[in-house]
Amino acid sequence: MSSSVSVANEGGVAIVTIDNPPVNALSFHVREPLMQALVALRDDASVTAIVIACAGRTFVAGADITEFGKPMQQPELRAIVAVLEAIARPTVAAIHGTALGGGLELALGCHFRVADQGARLGLPEVKLGILPGGGGTVRLPRLVGAAKALKMIVSGTPIGADEAYGAGLVDAVFEGDLTTHAVNFAREMARKGGPFPPVRDRDDVLKETDLAAFDAEAADLARKARGLEAPIACAQAVRDAVTLPFDEALAEERALFVKLVASDQSRAQRHLFFAEREAAKLPGKDAVKRRIARVGVIGAGTMGGGIAMAFANGGFPVTLLETSQEALRRGLATIEKNYTVSVARGSLSEDAKRQRLAQFKGTIDHADLADCDLIVEAAFEDMAVKKEIFGKLDAAARPGAILATNTSYLDIDEIAASTSRPQDVLGLHFFSPANVMKLLEIVRAEKTAPDALATVIDLARRIGKVAVVVGVCHGFVGNRMLAARGSESEALLLEGATPSQIDKAFTDFGWPMGPFQMGDLAGLDIGWRNRKARGLTAPIADTLCQQGRFGQKTGRGFYLYENGSRTPVPDPEVEALIRDKAAEKGIVPRTIDADEIIERTLYPLVNEGAKILEEGIAARASDIDVVWVNGYGFPIGKGGPMFWAGLEGAARIVGRLRYWHERTGKDVFKPAPLLERMAKTDSWEA
Ligand code: CAA
Repeated sequence: MSSSVSVANEGGVAIVTIDNPPVNALSFHVREPLMQALVALRDDASVTAIVIACAGRTFVAGADITEFGKPMQQPELRAIVAVLEAIARPTVAAIHGTALGGGLELALGCHFRVADQGARLGLPEVKLGILPGGGGTVRLPRLVGAAKALKMIVSGTPIGADEAYGAGLVDAVFEGDLTTHAVNFAREMARKGGPFPPVRDRDDVLKETDLAAFDAEAADLARKARGLEAPIACAQAVRDAVTLPFDEALAEERALFVKLVASDQSRAQRHLFFAEREAAKLPGKDAVKRRIARVGVIGAGTMGGGIAMAFANGGFPVTLLETSQEALRRGLATIEKNYTVSVARGSLSEDAKRQRLAQFKGTIDHADLADCDLIVEAAFEDMAVKKEIFGKLDAAARPGAILATNTSYLDIDEIAASTSRPQDVLGLHFFSPANVMKLLEIVRAEKTAPDALATVIDLARRIGKVAVVVGVCHGFVGNRMLAARGSESEALLLEGATPSQIDKAFTDFGWPMGPFQMGDLAGLDIGWRNRKARGLTAPIADTLCQQGRFGQKTGRGFYLYENGSRTPVPDPEVEALIRDKAAEKGIVPRTIDADEIIERTLYPLVNEGAKILEEGIAARASDIDVVWVNGYGFPIGKGGPMFWAGLEGAARIVGRLRYWHERTGKDVFKPAPLLERMAKTDSWEA
């Protein structure tokens, strides 16, 4: 037929196989022959049943995302599903790997779905800023009920084969050769005889919907959407599936899809999908990797413990080193406690907890790191301390072991120079809590060997991290830009804004929290220590720290946290302190609006990103977006700071930076040459 779709006949059962590597996306060159095959089979009386299967590693993983934003070539998926659904003989989707998005929608066009034990099924479109546009919102609730469909579609999280079976989404789960099982299943269904009601006609489950409970759930989801349109549209579409006749609901789904796919939010989220995959690509990534069987972690504090858990969760045995038995005991106890919390929450089984804990070996002797293939240092953030540790590592580690530092700021070239093997040294900058946060900045030092780099890029993927390779500079990509964002926060306070007003401008923009809430959460003492080390000051934050107000952990910071609460309450004392400091400096407070807050904090952030690109610290603008979305909570619907700069208009950003530079003379406002070029060319390419 075509290289993408073939049809075989096995004793009267037609097997339609889609073969479009790597993930069998429903590209035009699949849709066209698939439609032809289904039309031909529909009209072929010799065929008793039809199985739709896929070659390669997965069932169809969705529409071809690269085709979004371009005119859609016919036939569309909806038309294919309509033809499939109208076939009178039994049709069976044989699902292995992942049936996602359009893939699951295709399967929903079949009378039956059978799955391999390891298969996962879901409608993840919401993560791309859209909703299922091939009938998924209308058909899925007819099988699993409106409440379950709402959860699956709004979260976008796929479910496993057994759960899908329990929910009524699949009709059988098999181990072994799936196509053979599917053919036998189809033959059996044909033998039993129909009728075979298509999913569109199976609305019994919908009649059980508790619409009031559904609306309450949908309202809750809308509150959590933080300005994202897709989750709300998803909920609306599922509601339509319950309240409207099938074809009307389908038309409503279509209208919502068309609107969303053209939106900036969806463009931003699609940009991030490809940006994350692009970030792991760099010249030499295919170099022969070093073997990593055991990982060593130095330091069992919050950071070290989290890093150790990240590796143990990824299946690696970990040697955890501390300076004393007491510190080691404390560190291991915290790790155990964290796993116990996961068990209590139901995200980990007792058995898995035991297995994870069995991965850890504690020691206070550097010599015990000799059998580690990668050693990550997560000790105190002090150059002298790091150099001493790397000196010891140089003596203890086996030749060829990768020596990594988790430093957030320090010069890794200098750390590497304290060893006799700088080619093996690099940075692995995890974000706290390291066992949870997805981002990993991989810092390539001047002498890092390409195979060492390729090894950790691969390793990052294996432990479920989103990796971005960055160069050496103070703070690397994320923290260096964070400093640029933060530099104006205090100035805005002195000029008349309150912490809650600034934080609100951020949350209205789509951030999960504003800079002062974040400071209170992370601990104000961290920034204070860092400023003191660099001879810098921040009059208000410094004073708060002098008063012992370190944020949530002391119950007081920029806000009050009463009785251990995590909810920030504005504190008149802080506001009085701000006014006093302003008066000392002779500043007369004025009204500051949200636009100014965003301009003075986020435009310097973009500007710093442009400098980072110019200097080659990041390879691509999209890498910076990946860092900010995955490590700092930049709103996904805006695609990261560099993508957002395009939406906002680089020319506008440059104009306003110039304005603030003229008024204040501050360096953070001086437009980077690359940003000025971007304003003219609309491209971050240097
Ligand atoms: N369209 C186009 N390309 C896709 C794709 C898609 N739907 N899904 C994956 N790819 C590409 C990736 O960009 C990547 O390309 P490169 O190798 O050039 O970087 C390649 O396929 C392999 O992807 P991964 O690296 O992600 O492979 P993985 O094994 O880690 O994960 C996966 C596989 C779970 C299927 C993952 O790729 C994934 O989640 N894909 C997206 C699934 C999705 O969102 N589907 C819904 C699409 S929208 C839709 O279907 C709308 C509709 O209603 C019709």
